[in-house]
Amino acid sequence: MTAVLSAPPAAATEEGGLLLTVAGVEEAAPGIRTVTLRRPGGGLLPAYPPGSHLVLSCGDRRNAYSLTGDGMAAPEYRISVLLCPDGDGGSAFVHALQVGDAVVAAGPRSAFAPVSTARHHLLVAGGIGVTPMLSHARAAARWGRSFELFYGHRPGAGAHRAELADVCGPRLRAFEQAAGLLDALGAALADQPMGTHVYVCGPAPLMAFVEETAAGLGWPGDRVHAERFSAADLDPGEPFVARLARSGGRVPVPAGVSLLAALEAAGVAVPSMCRQGVCGECRLTVTAGRPLHRDLYLSPPEHASGDAVMCCVSRSLDDELELDL
Ligand code: FES
Repeated sequence: MTAVLSAPPAAATEEGGLLLTVAGVEEAAPGIRTVTLRRPGGGLLPAYPPGSHLVLSCGDRRNAYSLTGDGMAAPEYRISVLLCPDGDGGSAFVHALQVGDAVVAAGPRSAFAPVSTARHHLLVAGGIGVTPMLSHARAAARWGRSFELFYGHRPGAGAHRAELADVCGPRLRAFEQAAGLLDALGAALADQPMGTHVYVCGPAPLMAFVEETAAGLGWPGDRVHAERFSAADLDPGEPFVARLARSGGRVPVPAGVSLLAALEAAGVAVPSMCRQGVCGECRLTVTAGRPLHRDLYLSPPEHASGDAVMCCVSRSLDDELELDL
């Protein structure tokens, strides 16, 4: 069972988010910055399930970053962010933070929690995908769960290697060459006891390797868990109209504007977190029309059924899409 302790509420913004102060910045690896955040004045921050995200307001955007702690209530949150020069600006915002800066965050959101009934946890990380795995590994070690971590990274570019060695001991298997990682992973996936769950986060080829190898070996889909960085770069799409079944409203969604953004601009509140088709927070029920799915959250059967849409990235195949709003 995931252990979660309660904590007193952190300083809140008017919108209900957390007001935090940058308490430390350090290089976790070339191009990867670790930022430590605390409450102004100190005190415990809310606990969270391992693998959770913190959603930071980064200028005019909100980006989700994995928390690297074990999830217990603690006086600080830590995130490690890879600088992406061609990204949306979120990573540049984080890399520009200095000690003493104030930031606003939504409380931790769980989207990649360990399965409490798993008999063994096979953790697989590539590059910056190690951040949620560090959280999983810390929690598994703290609570005595059976686990091992396969971590592939470029030579000399591994983040949190010393911490991982401390946390995992011989359960850490690190690789600086992709071929070695894939060979070892293939063997591990083929030789797991019943009840193992595999969790993977990293570049798309690594995710695909784990998912396809596991499927080929007959792993049930519900024992394979993937945390993706974001939906692929998306084209602007075609304009359509969102019909709101309960309120009777009609919201035009122009090309280049997400369904989520159009709904928000029309005054329709929709929960959201990553805004990248990954977290599942913005799921809406579709009552008529065919969604054009572009998310990485819904499963293939859910995509095929067409009764839900992740409105931050997905659109409509038809001129109109009716939503249960
Ligand atoms: S906000 Fe995360 S999937 Fe849409």
